[in-house]
Amino acid sequence: MDNRPQWGTRAGFILAAVGSAIGLGNIWRFPAVAYENGGGAFFIPYLFALLTAGIPLLILEFTIGHKYRGSAPLSYARLNKKTEWLGWWQVAVSFVIACYYPVIIAWAMSYSAFSFNQNWGTDTAGFLIGEYLQVGAPGEIGGLVPGVFLPLLIVWAITLGVLFKGVKKGIEMINRVCIPLLVVLFLIVVLRAVTLDGAAEGLNAFFTPNWDSIMDGKVWVAAYGQIFFSLSIAFAIMITYSSYLPKKSDLTNNAFITGFGNSAFELLAGIGVFSALGFMAMQVGKPVEEVVSSGVGLAFIVFPQIINEMPALNGLFGFLFFGSLVLAGLTSLISIVETFIAGIQDKFKFSRTKAVLIGGGAAALVSVLFATRGGLNFLDVADYFINNFGVTLAGLAEVVVIAWVLKELKNLQAHANGVSDIMLGAWWKICLGIITPIVLGYMMFDNIRKNLNPETFYGNGDYGLSFLIYSGWVVAGLALVVGIVFSLFKWDRQTLNVPDNKEVSQ
Ligand code: ALA
Repeated sequence: MDNRPQWGTRAGFILAAVGSAIGLGNIWRFPAVAYENGGGAFFIPYLFALLTAGIPLLILEFTIGHKYRGSAPLSYARLNKKTEWLGWWQVAVSFVIACYYPVIIAWAMSYSAFSFNQNWGTDTAGFLIGEYLQVGAPGEIGGLVPGVFLPLLIVWAITLGVLFKGVKKGIEMINRVCIPLLVVLFLIVVLRAVTLDGAAEGLNAFFTPNWDSIMDGKVWVAAYGQIFFSLSIAFAIMITYSSYLPKKSDLTNNAFITGFGNSAFELLAGIGVFSALGFMAMQVGKPVEEVVSSGVGLAFIVFPQIINEMPALNGLFGFLFFGSLVLAGLTSLISIVETFIAGIQDKFKFSRTKAVLIGGGAAALVSVLFATRGGLNFLDVADYFINNFGVTLAGLAEVVVIAWVLKELKNLQAHANGVSDIMLGAWWKICLGIITPIVLGYMMFDNIRKNLNPETFYGNGDYGLSFLIYSGWVVAGLALVVGIVFSLFKWDRQTLNVPDNKEVSQ
């Protein structure tokens, strides 16, 4: 009998998995990525990526976690001792993300309070960069920014507080409350947005397909990148969460629900954001393409402008929008931090309290770097490199090792089919063994080529090469090195025994 914690109910697990998937990536990243990559035509590569990589990989990760009942490092070690590094690598990638992700939640927390009086004034870009973040030159740390540091402390207090409580009383409980609340709040934002003047123009810009873009490889790469980040794949998260499932659990169905639930929310975010952008474009008399912006700019520069222009209840609209970002972000952050808490608990036999203090404490400490005047620059580069050369590369390694090196797809398929209603057929193995490695392989090759070319490397013109090396390349490289180093510590022999799943997977 192992005494691994368990989810209280199936709905609790699904809400936690959906809570992890729906995050900052859905609300601020998806709308702009879709727009920049062909608008309506982006949905074809997006759906293709969801069906050929997103859901098959979710099923794979749910199956690994369920079958081997361990954190990502322990599950991989039980699958084959030689693949443990892959689990630690993914955990290390999550650690890096856990250092900057809470800082964005902290900004959103401040902005939900600023909404009531629109403290950002009329020059919202100047306010964000100058007054609020007090951004210095790239590479300069500068002093701590109290307006970011204080909400960051609150974000960590909530996250670690939930994690101390454990899987059922902490993680499951907060997702049960926050995810329905998020859906309601965000629906109000979207309903208000689609009824604004100009909303139809925004939706037109979002949905009108640019068919030429479908032939552009970059668009397919963007679709796969979005699906990976958004579904929390190759972050070690879904393996960890599914290790807390009871033996009798429908893995395939749960993966479909999580994948489609996440994409439905993403679509809703696109509709809400573009309706609001259409309204904004009408107010300033410019076409939608001139007001659209991505990432930090969209949420923290353009949205405050939209809130300024609202005909009524501006403060409430702003509070609901930034409040939704906070809720979506918190439930994802909790899942990201849980990966390394579970990893060190399994490997070093720490109590949960000790693991939360050490793992969560370390991430909280490093996150302070991103609450300094140099924070935005470090964050921008770390985010780009860890996504492109951490998440995607670790995802590629995952499918290659499992499908080609260990040839484990058949065994894992049998396990998933043993407990699920929907039977996995040859399509699943083709997606994971052929389509996904080819697309991700191309994606990697293209990204590396682009980033080694002095004309086209990331942030060319904004950042110096040395800054990119130590805050981007080194960070992504260290995640892999740390992964390998952690896999060198010895397990006690018994831990590596594969748990008995006989009654469910014969
Ligand atoms: N899946 C999480 C997000 O979309 C990490 O933000």
